[in-house]
Amino acid sequence: MVIVMRVLSGIQPSGALHLGNYFGSMKPNLEYVGKAESSFYFVADLHALTTIQDPKELRQLRKDIVLDYLACGFDPDKATLYYQSDIPYHTELAWILSTVSPMGLLERAVSFKEKVEKGISPSVGLFTYPVLMAADILLYDINLVPVGRDQKQHLEITRDLAIKFNNTYGETLVVPEPLVRDDTAIVPGTDGQKMSKSYGNTIPLFGSDAVIKKAIMSIVTDSKGINDPKDPATCVIFQIHKLFLTDTERKALAAEYKEGLPYGEAKKKLLQTYMDFSAPMRTKRQELEKKAGYLEETLASGAKKACLVAGKTMEKVRKATGLQ
Ligand code: TYM
Repeated sequence: MVIVMRVLSGIQPSGALHLGNYFGSMKPNLEYVGKAESSFYFVADLHALTTIQDPKELRQLRKDIVLDYLACGFDPDKATLYYQSDIPYHTELAWILSTVSPMGLLERAVSFKEKVEKGISPSVGLFTYPVLMAADILLYDINLVPVGRDQKQHLEITRDLAIKFNNTYGETLVVPEPLVRDDTAIVPGTDGQKMSKSYGNTIPLFGSDAVIKKAIMSIVTDSKGINDPKDPATCVIFQIHKLFLTDTERKALAAEYKEGLPYGEAKKKLLQTYMDFSAPMRTKRQELEKKAGYLEETLASGAKKACLVAGKTMEKVRKATGLQ
């Protein structure tokens, strides 16, 4: 049996794109562009309202993420790129899904608790965040959602809500599968915790040379002596560096650590790898920034394509529920 792949993923414009976003989501998603029957990538700007309430900042961050997507290699002729807020069906389906969402299911969401602990205001929007996320996915008949491990529970909620809706109203929504790659499931930040905009421990993908250098040089290390053997399995520098490398390169670098590569040298090597890796993307991003009107045209055409697909699902949902 041939399974038709329909892939989707989203990123919140809540800060500069970092290596966690790139390796946890962008890179695995890029592998599907052109191979999947359809692929949808969007900027989750409605979700970002739960944390960013400065209009000027949000406007800039939304645009930045689109430039990031394009610079990373998302080809808008092969993948549909759009702003979540350009498709009103997302909020419409989110409301309908909320009427079949058990409170208990949302109360168990770890991400809500973690965000509130970090000082984010516990708004109704933050609490129902996973319902909007379910709508983002279910509107497009998606069967595969490549994300980092932190989003896995949200994907489980999406599946639960699709099943709950189908049990209530008959088979209408496709139940999607999360795709979490073990090797990049949780990218560590400069302090060794999960790399996250809200922990202030990120290495941005498109930062200035000075910002990148400062971030890489600040990666935590243990107190081993300069030429002592280092353990690649526990070393945060290595855990970040290996993301850029092939298996053979990884093994060679691990051997250098075991032979006593000083941490300062290890950081310099990582900086060089990062620079070589990001240079073409950074050049592409600068070129895109100069192309007047390109971003707007790309997003308008993406929104048009997304609207067509989402509109068809909404028609089914309206019929199923009796709203039509
Ligand atoms: P966001 O914006 O926090 O992160 C975007 C993607 O990056 C992944 N990621 C990581 N992966 C590995 N290690 C890390 N340190 C790391 N940090 C972030 C995330 O897992 C994610 O895949 N709720 C989502 C946005 C969203 C969405 C959706 C995603 C809204 N609707 C529908 C998929 C499908 C979020 O906040 O991602």
